[in-house]
Amino acid sequence: MEKVAVVTGSSSGIGFETALALARDGFYTYATMRDITKAGSIQDISKKENLKLEVIKLDVDNEDSIKSAISKIFSEKNRIDVLVNNAGFLLFGCLEDISVEDVKAQFETNFFGVIRLIKETAPIMRKQGSGIIVNVSSIAGRIAFPATSAYISSKFALEGLSESMRYEMSPFGIKTIIIEPGVIKTNMLSSFKQTTTKPDSPYKEISEKVMNGIKMMGQMATPPSDVAKTIIKAIKTEDPLPRYIVGNDASMFLEAKKMKTDIEFENYLKKELFSN
Ligand SMILES: NC(=O)c1ccc[n+]([C@@H]2O[C@H](COP(=O)([O-])OP(=O)(O)OC[C@H]3O[C@@H](n4cnc5c(N)ncnc54)[C@H](OP(=O)(O)O)[C@@H]3O)[C@@H](O)[C@H]2O)c1
Repeated sequence: MEKVAVVTGSSSGIGFETALALARDGFYTYATMRDITKAGSIQDISKKENLKLEVIKLDVDNEDSIKSAISKIFSEKNRIDVLVNNAGFLLFGCLEDISVEDVKAQFETNFFGVIRLIKETAPIMRKQGSGIIVNVSSIAGRIAFPATSAYISSKFALEGLSESMRYEMSPFGIKTIIIEPGVIKTNMLSSFKQTTTKPDSPYKEISEKVMNGIKMMGQMATPPSDVAKTIIKAIKTEDPLPRYIVGNDASMFLEAKKMKTDIEFENYLKKELFSN
């Protein structure tokens, strides 16, 4: 029986590599993206390698777009085995410098987008008695950094959602997996949405320090193909763990967090990342 995978945000980065990795692994893969004019590169590779990969339009902010994509997939294949909730973006800015509307837009994509996809897909998986939902969180879903509070909050929320639904859905054969990458070399680092950090913002100094920290870490970043490899490994495990970490930076910070008290960890992070 042909297994079917759906990936959101496949136009670049982690979604692009994951869709290809799933197709190379034998899944009939729906590489979804909100702007299908960006499909050229993944379609070229897929054609060259003779992969079973189809690009379809899906904007995670838009319920109608999700409903029509999932119903097209179900009418073509009659099943969905793997859903990778990957689409997301990073809103940069300290809390006082960003608007409530900015924060809502961040949650609309990174959090409610995931919920919308799950609500459309879980009934299919439940009826077939199996399925795997992979939620791409971040080290930022476990550790808070400054100047990114909207992003951090959306990923902390995603972690809670994932842990809770794992209990609810496992009796129906649906497995939930959280992926926690560190800094990954993708467009997200270069093209994050920067809001109005005004020249006279009292948060200008810390914003600049964090921005420089992100740029510095970006140079040593892990390739997105490593995240794709971890996702493939996790979904092929009989009893997948609740979470998988990707990247030495993520492992290092999460290990330090485990070993230290909250205040020790806060001082460690200030020293490691924002001391100069
Ligand atoms: N890069 C990192 O350091 C890092 C670390 C940890 C976690 N992550 C997570 O990894 C995931 C993928 O990010 P990436 O690093 O691969 O960045 P990326 O290359 O910028 O990819 C983000 C993808 O999400 C898509 N997207 C954004 N809003 C969307 C929407 N409303 N509907 C559908 N697709 C949408 C983008 O589409 P467009 O091309 O149309 O914009 C793009 O395909 C995100 O959830 C991110 O939070 C990234």
